[in-house]
Amino acid sequence: MKISCLETSRLFLVPSSMKYFEERSSISSDIENTRLMMFLPSTKEETFSYIKKCETQWKSENQTLFEFDILLKEQNNKFIGWISFELLFDNPEIVKKFGNNCADMGWLLDKNFWNKGFASESAKCVLEFTKSLGVKKMIAQCDAENIGSWRVMEKIGMKKYSDNGIRYNKSEPNLAKTEFMYTIDL
Ligand SMILES: CC(C)(COP(=O)(O)OP(=O)(O)OC[C@H]1O[C@@H](n2cnc3c(N)ncnc32)[C@H](O)[C@@H]1OP(=O)(O)O)[C@@H](O)C(=O)NCCC(=O)NCCS
Repeated sequence: MKISCLETSRLFLVPSSMKYFEERSSISSDIENTRLMMFLPSTKEETFSYIKKCETQWKSENQTLFEFDILLKEQNNKFIGWISFELLFDNPEIVKKFGNNCADMGWLLDKNFWNKGFASESAKCVLEFTKSLGVKKMIAQCDAENIGSWRVMEKIGMKKYSDNGIRYNKSEPNLAKTEFMYTIDL
């Protein structure tokens, strides 16, 4: 999809690209920053492949993954994290549970920029954008311990759908953790 960027009062959200490879690699390999995530931390090679995938998706006619780099206007458009959503229109399990036109959202901010409202600000903006693609329901999931993440879900109007999911985070692959799921109708 051809979009140059989305914009909020403090941020630009631009299609993810190799431009911020070094910054993203450093955050993606940071244990504190990624402790509660299922697919991180990652090596430089893994980060490279993932950004390649994002770039390919942005060029695809049938794009399903939309990942944005988050840039902070007041610090000369510094890279401070990313936010993404994935269309689940063709996922039979999701369609059965939530109907058609559902998407799944996720986010990560550099730990030096937590608790300043940047994830919520980005997520509100991205939610509006998803409406233009025909998304009718957004879901998001996180480790029950990840207060910052479920607070973002609540701050953007999502409601808790379940509190008894099970997940395994990459940093502690053998430890079963409780997962929350939130949803919102758009
Ligand atoms: C989750 C994450 C993106 C939130 O980003 P953020 O920019 O800090 O989020 P916001 O500032 O918009 O909102 C965070 C809210 O959580 C609250 N919060 C965070 N940690 C908290 C804690 N330990 N106890 C109570 N509240 C907490 C903040 O106070 C804030 O709520 P408030 O505005 O009502 O005070 C960020 O913490 C992060 O990148 N974490 C690591 C990656 C990750 O886990 N991503 C989610 C994967 S599911």
